[in-house]
Amino acid sequence: MHPLPRRLAVLTLSLGLSACGSTAPVTDDSLYQALGGQSGIERIVEGLLINISDNPQIVGHFAETDIDRLNQKLIEQFCVESGGPCEYTGDSMRDSHTGLNLTEADFNALVEDLIDAMQALDVPVTAQNRLLARLAPMRSEIIYR
Ligand code: HEM
Repeated sequence: MHPLPRRLAVLTLSLGLSACGSTAPVTDDSLYQALGGQSGIERIVEGLLINISDNPQIVGHFAETDIDRLNQKLIEQFCVESGGPCEYTGDSMRDSHTGLNLTEADFNALVEDLIDAMQALDVPVTAQNRLLARLAPMRSEIIYR
């Protein structure tokens, strides 16, 4: 059930690829297309939020969260990070996670929920890993804040 590429993706993500909070802008929309475009990303985020709601490790952190807003901001973010025709209008990763005191275990749990959502939608593993690699550098902005 856990093919090697998925484990490698999580490992890469948990090690973090960079100390800074962002990577270079994407120059093509091949990842956006591989994720299924706007409707594909909407389904991935929906699956992620459902998995979070069912995950006792992290669901408590979202008790006070406006889920409609989070849904919209995540869709925008995944769209931008995959090279899609969107703009991210949310708060910075540092601002939105400060005060939550998130741990590596929390971060890894959310990543697992995202992987499970993409796997359930048959997103190709290469596309899964490309999205995870875009999100990995955000880790240091999100945990222990
Ligand atoms: C790769 C990892 C993550 C990404 C890409 C991410 C992305 C985001 C985005 C885009 C927002 C919306 C910001 C806004 O409202 O303007 C947000 C908010 C939030 N995130 Fe994360 N997040 C990540 C990890 C986590 C983890 C691990 C947790 C907790 C277990 C978490 C909990 C929250 C909460 C509770 C909010 C809402 C904060 C509020 O209501 O003000 N996030 N995140």
